[in-house]
Formats: sequence, C-alpha cells, structure tokens
Amino acid sequence: MPRKILVTSALPYANGAIHIGHLVEYIQTDIWVRYQKMAGNECWYVCADDTHGTPIMLRAEQEGIAPEQLIERMHGEHARDFAGFGVAFDNYYSTHSPETREYANEIYRRLKAAGLIETRTIEQFYDPLKAMFLPDRFIKGECPKCHAQDQYGDNCESCGAAYAPTDLIEPYSAVSGAKPELRSSEHYFFKLSDPRCEAFLRRYTSRDNGALQAEAANKMQEWLGAPGENRLTDWDISRDAPYFGFEIPDAPGKYFYVWLDAPIGYMGSFKNFCTRQGLDFDEWFKPGSETELVHFIGKDILYFHALFWPAELAHAGYRTPDKIFAHGFLTVDGAKMSKSRGTFITAASYLNTGLDPEWLRYYYAAKLSASMEDIDLNLDDFVARVNSDLVGKYVNIASRAAGFIAKRFNGQLAPVTADLPALRAIQEAAGRIADLYEGREYGKAVREIMALTDAANQYVDSVKPWELAKQAGRESELHVACSNALNLFRLLTVLLKPILPALAAKVESFLAIAPLIWADSASLLAGGHRINAYTHLMTRVDAKQIEQLVAANKDAPPAPAPAPTAVAAAPTPPPVATAPLCTIDDFTKVDLRVVRIANAEHVEGADKLVRLTLELGNGETRNVFAGIKSAYDPATLVGRMTVMVANLAPRKMKFGLSEGMVLAASDDSGQTPGIFLLTPDSGAEPGMRVK
Ligand code: MSP
Ligand code: ZN
Repeated sequence: MPRKILVTSALPYANGAIHIGHLVEYIQTDIWVRYQKMAGNECWYVCADDTHGTPIMLRAEQEGIAPEQLIERMHGEHARDFAGFGVAFDNYYSTHSPETREYANEIYRRLKAAGLIETRTIEQFYDPLKAMFLPDRFIKGECPKCHAQDQYGDNCESCGAAYAPTDLIEPYSAVSGAKPELRSSEHYFFKLSDPRCEAFLRRYTSRDNGALQAEAANKMQEWLGAPGENRLTDWDISRDAPYFGFEIPDAPGKYFYVWLDAPIGYMGSFKNFCTRQGLDFDEWFKPGSETELVHFIGKDILYFHALFWPAELAHAGYRTPDKIFAHGFLTVDGAKMSKSRGTFITAASYLNTGLDPEWLRYYYAAKLSASMEDIDLNLDDFVARVNSDLVGKYVNIASRAAGFIAKRFNGQLAPVTADLPALRAIQEAAGRIADLYEGREYGKAVREIMALTDAANQYVDSVKPWELAKQAGRESELHVACSNALNLFRLLTVLLKPILPALAAKVESFLAIAPLIWADSASLLAGGHRINAYTHLMTRVDAKQIEQLVAANKDAPPAPAPAPTAVAAAPTPPPVATAPLCTIDDFTKVDLRVVRIANAEHVEGADKLVRLTLELGNGETRNVFAGIKSAYDPATLVGRMTVMVANLAPRKMKFGLSEGMVLAASDDSGQTPGIFLLTPDSGAEPGMRVK
C-alpha cells in the first residue's frame, strides 16, 4: 500500500531574499519528497511565504508601498528562486490567505471553547511618536551588564547577556528614535501551563513517541523540566494594532501574533491545494488520520514546532505531526554567513552568476545527515567535489560509451552481459540506498553511490572501449562493453535522481526512456533499445565562478567611521601581546608553502589528530599529522588549499612520521574557541612559497 505523506518546509519570511542557508532546508526536503514520489508513495509538498508581523509592516512602510504589495513581490521572487534550484512544491502559497485566516480563527475558537485562552493585562514599551507597541527587536539601548551601546531589547551582542527590554539603560525606539514609555494593554494567551497541555507535551515530545530526533526530544524534555515542575509558561498570541496580520475575531484592534498563524499556513496551503486537486483535506487533518504529516525545519524554530504547534493542534481537535525533522545551520568556509566576506550568498545571485543549481544540491546532499549538526559549505571543497564526483566519475561513464553506440551501432544497444558484477552491485545496493534516503542520511547515500560509480568506472577502464574501437574484429565486444556501461549509467541515474532531477531528465532524454522511478533500479535496458545522440550533461565548476559569486555578494566596504560625537566611545580593547621581535632572516628560515590537501583521514586511536596527505607540487607529497580533529571533519578537508611549514624537522609519532605542519589560528584566551585553518586566495598553486 503506498503511503500518503504531507510534507512541509518552514515558511520563509516575506521580508528577505532566499539565501543559501535557507536552501539547505528546501533542498533537503525536496530530495526526500522526490525520493518518496519515485518510490510510488502519494506525497505532497506544500509551503508558503510567512507574511505577517511588524518587520514586514515597517519595511513596506519604508518602501512607501502597502504590505500586500510587498508580500506579492516577495512571493514572486521566492517562487522563482525555489524553482531555479529545482525545489518542486506542489503548492507554494501565502499565509495572507483566506484559508489560513479561516483555520486560524477556527483553532482560536476551539482553544477558547476548551478553556485554553486567557486574557491578561501586561506592560510593554510603547513608541509615543509611532503610536505603536515595540517588539523587543525594535528597542535598543545600553547593555545593563557590559554597557555596550545600541544593543537589542532581548540580548546583548557584545557580552551575550539576555535580559528584558525594561532592563536596558537609556532605551530608545529603533523605529523612530523616541524614548519608549511603558504602557499596559490586554493580551491573549494560549494556556500552555494548563495540566492538559503539559501532559500532552510530555507524551508528544518523549523519545518513545518518535516524533522528534533523539537530541531534540532530550532538549524538549529539559525545557519541560521534571514532572510536576511545570516550567511551561503561557504563550502570548496577540499583538496590538498597528500590526500586519489577522485581526482576532472577537477582539477588535487585537491581531494574532505572526507565530500563531505561521504554522497554520501549512494547513492553509494544503487546503488551497486540496480544493484545486479534488483531495479531501479532512482525511489528512482529522485526529487519527491514516496519513503522515512531516515537517522539515531548522533547529532554531524547534520550540515553535515541537511545543506550541502540536499543543494547538491536539487541543483544537486536529491530528498532530508524525515527524518533526530539524536540521543544523549552514556555515560557509567554517564561519557564519557574512555580508562583508561575501558569503551571505543569495539564491538569485548564485543563479545569475551562471552556476549550476545541481552542483549545490549535490554538495548539500553529500553533507547532510539526519542530525541537527551544522553543515559547512567549504568553497574549495565544493569545486573539488563536484568536479571529481559528478563530472570526473559519474558523467564520465556515459561520455566514454555513448559516442560508439551512436557512430558504430546506429544508436542501438546490445543485450547486457549476464551477471556483470558492477551491475549486480548497484541493484543489490538500491534497497540500502532507499533506506538512507528515507532516513535522511543523504551523505551516506552519496558515499555508497560514489563507490558504485567507482566500480562502474573500473569496469569501463578494464574493457577499454577506446582501444577495442581501434582493433579490427572486436566490434561485438565493443558493442557489449558500451551497452554495459550505459546500463550502469542508467542505474546510477536512478539512485541519484532525487538529488539531481534536472540532470536525470537530460539522461532520460538521451537514453530515450520514460521518467525513471525507483523500481527501475531492478530492470535493465533491453538489447535493441535505441538511444538518442549524446548531449553534454554537466560542465565543471571553474574556481573563477566562485570568486565571481563571492564578489557579487560582498557588501561595499564599510563607510569611514563618523567623527566622534557626544555618544560615549566603545571601550578600547587591551593591546595584543605578541611574541618578542624577530628579524627578516629569522623569518625566512621558515619555508612556508602552499599545499593542496590530497587526502585527510581519521587516525585510529588518536582523538585530536587528522592524517593529512599534502601535495607540494611536482608530484611531491608530505604526510602530516595535524591536531585539528576537533574543528574539522576530514572529509571536508580533501581538495582544499592551505599553507604548511615545509622545512620543519620530521617528527616520529606513535602513528607514523609527521613531515611538517599546517598553519591554523586559534584564540589562546579561549574566548572564541576553535581552530581556523589558513587558506590562500584562490589562484595560488601547490608549491608556491609564502613570504
Ligand atoms: N518564518 C519562520 C518559519 C515559520 S514556519 C511556520 C522562519 N523563517 S526564516 O526565513 O527565517 O527561515 C526559514 C527556514 O530556513 C527555517 O527553518 C530556518 O531554520 C532555515 N534557515 C534560515 N537560515 C538558515 C541557515 N543559515 N542554515 C540553515 N537553515 C537556515 O524561521
Ligand atoms: Zn553586554
């Protein structure tokens, strides 16, 4: 029986562009959905823009347009960006929709009937100039702890302290600059502290229930505290006018807080889809539904999805999510995405620079797992990996075989060799790889598929079609060899298709076959099958394209600091204590060279070390043990460039001889923990001296 699965990704805010951080989530989800569809399940993927809230209202005001105009424009941009990356929603809608409003009202009405809505008067900062209450993020002032200026109302970016906006010294409104006043107003609360909610959430978030990853379940149980301790506080779900959102039905001038209607947007989008598609919405959302509801989210919004949302659904008489899959955050070259470094890369800039979206899909897949760990996009590794795996290995199989079939055999295949080991290996692995997709272990799936691709290439290397082609009387051997190779290629394409749908479509048209589904991994192309002429499938990434991409995302250098004003200056940091002076001669004794990390692997029995094989140019390599395991996964190091001390006296270690060392920075004071490997600017070649 095919499963019925409704899948969502988090709804991106309508006030910003889609960037490569977002894409981790949408690509992760899209791969899962494509796999489910290929496997024959009824699987629907819906999403929407998250359109409500103060930031969107203020941004529209700044642009001099109505919020409705702003969200319509952003909807167009988001839909275009997602389509550009092959993220194939069945419906991409908006929370500012009649369906979402209807379910928000309905859920509110049912929660109220269940006695789970309460009103209370609270005091809050109010901007008398703008005549509006201020969200914490729009109040700034001096940090009560470290006295840094211009800190946000909820926490200090300088010292990390968390506090209430009322703790700020000399607070001011970030909207108008006015001094905020405390005013009271009536707010609506969802009574999460009610014993019914607590009991439900203990069950729902338990490891046994299986809705959450183990690490997430543990965190939620921590938030809930020990039984009887009840740490849950009621959730403020209303905001006062002016606000861009849905007005609460029986409370004029009060609006639903954006996070109340945002997840309801999942229902709104699906309802809209059901109406158009003739599906029965209630079958999917009634309690005890036989269908599955699966949410993909980032770890930053776990609280909303694992606590508030299921509690709302359960007590309003709807089904609850079966799975909440949280992923980690994207870093680029080991650091948070940054506008000044040009690594805050928008989806649109990536597409406009002419990079192939499937390169990124492949790279993310290779890095993704079922855990909540952050994932790193290492730009050098990205180039190396895509070129070596996709172009050098996978596409290479077809490009070495297809031409002969077209030129010598009229485009027709010969029957494959019975029991060819490389073919059997792929067919045997298909089930395991299916499980890896199902379990979101895409990195492991990619590794298995690449091992099979290596075996397929070894087969082609062993039969050498290009040599058979030169020898008289070996036509039929050539025919079989190339037909085998194309069959291997077709099977690998089935396995890669959830990740590389556009490439798979090109392969389908070149092989003249119907769209591949998972079950096709069990079959072969029959002898006599006629293929089309080989078309170019994928180009190599050029490191220059990455440079262009980073340049396109680099902010203009910061304007020169303004002349000092009456505002207190930031405290001067203590001077850096450097080592005693050395001469240029001392320095040139150290021979520093650019190297490429040709290989990196764990060292059995060493908890700090990674074994590196460094390419020094001219075919020379060095073996180095580097104490960087805490900061780098060896797999991410392969292919990247760094700098080594090339004339360091070799040192015999327990694990072998270390012939040099690589350069890395670290903070001895321990304030910024971590190890940061040096990388030369792109263009530098192995063997170049650093001086
Ligand atoms: N609007 C809310 C979600 C409402 S869901 C009912 C929101 N929007 S967001 O635009 O900030 O983020 C959308 C999704 O992208 C979130 O799941 C978030 O975790 C994810 N990511 C945003 N930046 C990210 C990275 N740098 N890395 C990985 N995922 C990131 O939150
Ligand atoms: Zn501070």
